[in-house]
Amino acid sequence: MLTSDQIARYHREGFLALPDFKSPAEIAALRARATQMVDDFDPESSKTIFTTNDQIRTVDRYFLDSATRASCFFEEEAFDAQGQLRQAKALSINKIGHAMHDLDPVFDAFSRGPALNDLALDVGLAEPQIWQSMYIFKQPGIGGEVGWHQDATFFDSTPVTVTTFWFALEDATLENGCLWVEVGGHRGPMRERFVRHGDVVTMEKLDATPWPDSRSAVPLEVKAGTLVVFHGLLPHYSAPNRSAHSRHAYTLHVTDGRSAYAPSNWLQRREDFPVRGFV
Ligand code: FE2
Repeated sequence: MLTSDQIARYHREGFLALPDFKSPAEIAALRARATQMVDDFDPESSKTIFTTNDQIRTVDRYFLDSATRASCFFEEEAFDAQGQLRQAKALSINKIGHAMHDLDPVFDAFSRGPALNDLALDVGLAEPQIWQSMYIFKQPGIGGEVGWHQDATFFDSTPVTVTTFWFALEDATLENGCLWVEVGGHRGPMRERFVRHGDVVTMEKLDATPWPDSRSAVPLEVKAGTLVVFHGLLPHYSAPNRSAHSRHAYTLHVTDGRSAYAPSNWLQRREDFPVRGFV
């Protein structure tokens, strides 16, 4: 799948952007299915808002249960002071998560196959295990910022192996909140760990190394169909979307089964719903 140059670059820089990894037809199928899921979602069933900016988050049942479901989460700015949606439901959802790849045939087809399996092997995941899927809407006008973080914070293992597969479903630009990464930053320390104790989650500070800023970070403006694969320790961020255009993306978080997945990670699987790979 990858050339030796690409593999070397991945290890050096911590990420790789692969244009045209997904076809327009594959993207259209996933987008249509996500639209359907949002149509079917009853907003009254949950007003959970997703934010990564709280140090300590009181997590509700809806969030914890989403580990094994396809749950819709609202944008932080979706509601007005009276608790009413500011815009249509379809333009108010932040994301769907976190098990669509194992629950829904359309998501399963998008999330698996020989090409992804070969890529996983090339970046060092000998026994890929797909823990989580997220469909991210980054809605026009209200799509929230996702502050600097490392995905290993949420998917700790020994050694750290979590790898993110980030699919652009629309063109990602500076205007609509594309990813920013610190090139080579995956060689730095893990700053934080998101730890679950029963039904409470806390963010533990592990290392005081500062996050990158606009001098050391680069924006990844990519076309729809591009797959960005990146190391779990690579610091990344995305700005709010104040543009008139959405920025849909889809992500998978994958560890290597040879590493020990931390029992304190918030997302765990039951024995009757085991984690699986790309094939
Ligand atoms: Fe992330």
